[in-house]
Amino acid sequence: MDGHPLKGRDFLKLLDFEPEEIMGLVDLAAELKRKKEDGIPHYVFRGMNVALIFEKTSTRTRCAFEVAAHDLGMGTTYLNPKDSQLGKKESIKDTARVLSGMFDGIEYRGFGQDIVEELAEYSSVPVFNGLTNEFHPTQMLADLLTIKEYYGSIKGRKLAYFGDARYNTGNSLMVAAAKMGMAINIVAPKKYWPNEELTEQCRTIAEETGAEINCTEDVDEGSHDVDVVSTDVWVSMGEPDEIWEERIRDLTPYRVTGRIMNNAGEDAIFMHCLPSFHDLGTETGRIIHEKFGLTEMEVTDEVFESPQSLVFQEAENRMHTIKAVMYAML
Ligand code: CP
Ligand code: NVA
Repeated sequence: MDGHPLKGRDFLKLLDFEPEEIMGLVDLAAELKRKKEDGIPHYVFRGMNVALIFEKTSTRTRCAFEVAAHDLGMGTTYLNPKDSQLGKKESIKDTARVLSGMFDGIEYRGFGQDIVEELAEYSSVPVFNGLTNEFHPTQMLADLLTIKEYYGSIKGRKLAYFGDARYNTGNSLMVAAAKMGMAINIVAPKKYWPNEELTEQCRTIAEETGAEINCTEDVDEGSHDVDVVSTDVWVSMGEPDEIWEERIRDLTPYRVTGRIMNNAGEDAIFMHCLPSFHDLGTETGRIIHEKFGLTEMEVTDEVFESPQSLVFQEAENRMHTIKAVMYAML
């Protein structure tokens, strides 16, 4: 472990990593998952500690970091802006230097990518991006592991991402596809496609890796014969509630339905980073239902609950992949 080639690195976005390094993390996660399933302890970081900063809410990422850290023998401290000095009374630059003196690693979930990059710049210990507006790199490792578990391979697989692709999940999936030599269809109205700069960057990477990056407004063309159909919420954390009406109008035609799954490859799977609005089991879902009459949003309940849906396997894999990141980089 001392000699892991990624030791000391930050995990801020997939763009910073070579395809072999990303694959190495996915394989390491699979190995750690097997260890956990077989009951083989791996307290390799006993006595070490990680700080978990969450400026936005979380279920999966927080739990994944906490369980993974504890499985590795580490302690964790959860910090949010409400109960700490973060933001209002202490800058990111100062926080980075304070936490570096007490912790062996720092996870950050929040707003701009520039914030996590600044945290990493001033921190002397590895920093892990637990989601920013722009990127969600730990989610991508879980998605890649899930794809590998199902299909046995990653390179050459075809993905389709439906919905708002300008945000963390859509951006990151496009980068993951580019890096790992997959084909991706971004399927959304043009104004929801990832920005041109990132798309061009991914197309350049794709020339090396054999990936294909395609953006389309056509649902049938976008879903045709793909292996993986993926989507995300229509309104992301930090966006104003007023935006729902426009998103519902724009993105309802891009909801993942049984028809889309039927048009995908015979073996196609459905993936979603979660949380998801697929029924009326949430407060937001019920408010939207009252206001706009929708009972499901980015995915139908039928698809979400179908055997093709690997969303809970994907969620569990957040923990194994986050463990791999800490195992490699701390
Ligand atoms: N997928 C994901 O990041 O979930 P949380 O927001 O619950 O952490
Ligand atoms: N795009 C979503 C992802 C949640 C994991 C958000 O930022 O809220």
